[in-house]
Amino acid sequence: MNPATTRSLAITGIGELFTGDDVLRDAAVVVDGDRIAWVGPTSGTPAADERLDADGAAVLPGFVDSHAHLVFAGDRAAEFDARMAGAPYTGGGIRTTVAATRAASDDELRASAGRLVREALRQGTTTIEIKSGYGLSIADEVRCLRIAGQLTDETTFLGAHVVPTGESADDYVALVSGPMLEAAAPYARWIDVFCDRGAFDADQARAILTAGAKAGLGVRVHANQLVAGPGVRLAVELGAASADHCTHLTGADVDALAGGQTVATLLPGADFGTRSPYPDARRLLDAGVAVALATDCNPGTSYTTSMSFCIALAVREMRMTPAEAVAAATSGGARALRRDDVGRIRPGLRADLMILDAPSYLHLAYRPGVPLVRTVLHNGVPQ
Ligand code: NIG
Ligand code: FE
Repeated sequence: MNPATTRSLAITGIGELFTGDDVLRDAAVVVDGDRIAWVGPTSGTPAADERLDADGAAVLPGFVDSHAHLVFAGDRAAEFDARMAGAPYTGGGIRTTVAATRAASDDELRASAGRLVREALRQGTTTIEIKSGYGLSIADEVRCLRIAGQLTDETTFLGAHVVPTGESADDYVALVSGPMLEAAAPYARWIDVFCDRGAFDADQARAILTAGAKAGLGVRVHANQLVAGPGVRLAVELGAASADHCTHLTGADVDALAGGQTVATLLPGADFGTRSPYPDARRLLDAGVAVALATDCNPGTSYTTSMSFCIALAVREMRMTPAEAVAAATSGGARALRRDDVGRIRPGLRADLMILDAPSYLHLAYRPGVPLVRTVLHNGVPQ
């Protein structure tokens, strides 16, 4: 268990272990290097080089935030203020952030995205997806993806966020699915399209996503955030890993998700920040749909990196049980990213986990707004 190059660490004194498969009491975890080596009853804990006493606290997998837009400049606090006074969200503010992002230097963008990744990590997020989408030119999309790639392996090309000011939609769709995709693909694992009112329609989204899949990228879709449009069904049709938002769903959308392989990624921070209805998580779960929770961190709709906040909203407003919400924020996010090495505490998986300042995972929803994450291990290293 202890090759010369790595140190092993036994975490004991765990009050409650949420593994993603079970909730165990009187359990211990042994980490070896960057992997989980052993999980079992405290009495059988194998010898390890070091010991960490959880002192009766709950331990759970690191959060997997499968949807975030972290490479941008400026903020849109004034837009939020107007919205809270009754203005609607239309997506038009994306162009404000595009202008600020284009005007920022690489160093400024890297510093601000890095700050958000560290902010998320302190709150328990050990895997995070980062999208482009505030560049909307070949050069700006590529530099945003390069910066994202310095912070995560889960990079997503979102050239099709909106049509930039002054450009024709047809020309822009041709650009995104042609030369921009070609330039961006080496820096991206995924392709995403905002398929919604005021952004891209089903035919435009299908053309872009199909081109992306042909270029070797996995597919994800911003779907059904503003209206019950075609996005969710398109995502299922294309075998997308994830359909994200799902705020407005028809029965046909739920049936499509239940019959397909696409995860429904719910983003309650965006519904909070746009004063929208929350997605009907209960209906999705009862239909057998795989559900993930993510922050959608971005300066327009959801300027939060807190997965705990999303869990609390999902429990209070979306009728998920605390166990369902924590699973959606960990193993659900892993599934939405088609990752089998994160999201659970199981031997062989990455040693990404957190120790709470609380005796149970229930407290994440029960004590909303309280910073309950005491210690985070990322790749086996305490942060
Ligand atoms: O997921 N809706 C599309 N994109 C983002 C918001 C972007 C913005 O308003 O800046 C979202 O909510
Ligand atoms: Fe988003």
